Amino acid sequence: MKTIFEPFRIKMVEPIRMTTREERLAAIEQAGYNPFLIPAEKVLIDLLTDSGTSAMSTDQWAAMIKGDEAYACARSWYAFESAVKDITGFAHVIPTHQGRAAERLLFSVIAKEGMVVPSNTHFDTTRANIEHRGCRALDFVVPGGEDPEVIADFKGNMDIARLEECIKTNGTEKIPVVMLTVTNNATGGQPVSMENIRQTRAVCDRYGLPLFLDVARFAENAWFIKMREPGFADRSLKSICQEMFSYADGCTMSAKKDALVNIGGFIALNDEKLAVGLKNMLILTEGYATYGGLAGRDLEAIAQGLKEVVDEDYMRYRIHTVASLAERLNQANIPIFNPPGGHAVYLDARRFLPHLPPEQFPGQALVAELFIEGGIRAVEIGSVMFGYWDADGRFVGAPNELVRLALPRRVYTSSHMDYLVEVVVELHARRHQVRGLKFRYEAPVLRHFTSTFDRV
Ligand code: F0G
Repeated sequence: MKTIFEPFRIKMVEPIRMTTREERLAAIEQAGYNPFLIPAEKVLIDLLTDSGTSAMSTDQWAAMIKGDEAYACARSWYAFESAVKDITGFAHVIPTHQGRAAERLLFSVIAKEGMVVPSNTHFDTTRANIEHRGCRALDFVVPGGEDPEVIADFKGNMDIARLEECIKTNGTEKIPVVMLTVTNNATGGQPVSMENIRQTRAVCDRYGLPLFLDVARFAENAWFIKMREPGFADRSLKSICQEMFSYADGCTMSAKKDALVNIGGFIALNDEKLAVGLKNMLILTEGYATYGGLAGRDLEAIAQGLKEVVDEDYMRYRIHTVASLAERLNQANIPIFNPPGGHAVYLDARRFLPHLPPEQFPGQALVAELFIEGGIRAVEIGSVMFGYWDADGRFVGAPNELVRLALPRRVYTSSHMDYLVEVVVELHARRHQVRGLKFRYEAPVLRHFTSTFDRV
């Protein structure tokens, strides 16, 4: 059989309240054309993020009920610690309430002012936490990695030559850690190959530097290795994950993605001295070392989620959902970032709305129209997020104008995807009528969250 269907039955449902176009027009106008300001109840299909939006399984809910809420050394802590060790192989596990808490903790201990942290591409929160320490976050993704039209298997890879150049220029004492984000969310959720992880490790070994992985989507990355990299087709998904971790000294994790839960995260690492330093900071800001700001039930849900995410039937369905959505949009000549990554399809707003210049925010305009047309909530990753005014007051647009349609895990069915494709195709047919946007209020930091807009 060729059809790949959702490998689960639905036992509990969350109704979607239908809305009219008029209602949506009023809602988006009131939200200042910013999807973060739209009440979630007015959204039909919410593709704002794949983070913390997973549906949990019966086994996860059962584990939640069993959650041990003892303050220290709860049974749930041991379940969590053992699940994280089983998949990562690291000696020390530090729970945190989400990914950015893990990042803040790590950099508050290892990063000193003036240092640089190289990566394939840092996610925004990682970058912000590094910069907050007075350091520079540098991205060395391979050439073509950010080009929506270049077709390659591992567009998330680190450019090894530029990494080495950076180490030589700055000196090893200026670099507390080398990072690799798997998959590379900031460049379309593109995977990193095992070969590239090995090569990055080899560079780190040559200069005596530690390597940390940002593993929010580690299992999705491993699936691409299994599908695309020679020598992995017959390996189990779990053993590929374990091999990925084996090349690193530690990792930061947002469990809100590939641990299939609504909240949680961790740092796992081998360096005992660093682990002790991190735990001391953890107690100061997040909570005691065996819960780190999470309830016992959250630890249980993560432990179970880490087992379910390496189920190959689940992951085949997961990646197939994204790939088939992309394929249908490609067939309809909708410009998207190709090939699709693991957790989202990105519309290319520059080619979708070529009549809109960067200062009229084509990505944001497209986000607004998706909501008006079909109640779809997406997020702009373009000039609202990354554009700026130069010293002469000229607007400098972002390298790409993308709109991310992130797919929550196990939440929407293939008929939701049918509807989504229909909405995008309808919108594409009337794309010439779409007007640009200008700021009503421009937020001073992290503009995309709170800025508001008016139509030009
Ligand atoms: N690293 C990556 C690669 C991420 O994608 C995220 C979050 C984080 C770290 C931070 O984790 O949200 O648990 O604090 N990405 C979400 C997204 C927000 O929508 O892509 P967090």
